[in-house]
Amino acid sequence: MSNAEDHAGTRRDFLYYATAGAGAVTAGAAAWPLVNQMNPSADVAALSSIRVDVSGVEVGTQLTVKWLGKPVFIRRRSAEEIEAARAVALDELMDKNAQNRNDMALDASDQNRTLDEDGEWLVMIGVCTHLGCVPIGDGAGDFGGWFCPCHGSHYDTAGRIRRGPAPENLWIPVAAFDGDDLVLG
Ligand code: FES
Repeated sequence: MSNAEDHAGTRRDFLYYATAGAGAVTAGAAAWPLVNQMNPSADVAALSSIRVDVSGVEVGTQLTVKWLGKPVFIRRRSAEEIEAARAVALDELMDKNAQNRNDMALDASDQNRTLDEDGEWLVMIGVCTHLGCVPIGDGAGDFGGWFCPCHGSHYDTAGRIRRGPAPENLWIPVAAFDGDDLVLG
């Protein structure tokens, strides 16, 4: 199977997952207090943190992993993507908050959304902030970042919403590097 086909398959899987997941999320919400009472052990906490080896991710490509039932986009941005994101003034943005779970007070400048100072690594929850579809990446949409085909939300190369009904930038999860590994959660 070629890389392109492989990616297409991954995308289909996630779209399917996003559709099928709506019912599961409701059931999960109802079940949570029960699980919490019955099993307040370390198991749940351990599951909430994962480690991903990102040493094989090429510049200008994206790795998608599943974490806590959601896709996480791990993008190693090209110089062009970084430059495009950093050329945008804050007042051009629809959502001016970084939506960075490491620090919710940050504004949505590109530097506040990337994992490293150079801006090469961008890690985001791959769920559209409109109604939860999984956006298409690899330069999709009118701003060269991600595009959600469900209702037409366009995100830029920093994952910030630029056009369409989504109210917020794609969320940045709690994440940090540990050597070649990215630790989520
Ligand atoms: S769910 Fe993405 S635009 Fe509606």
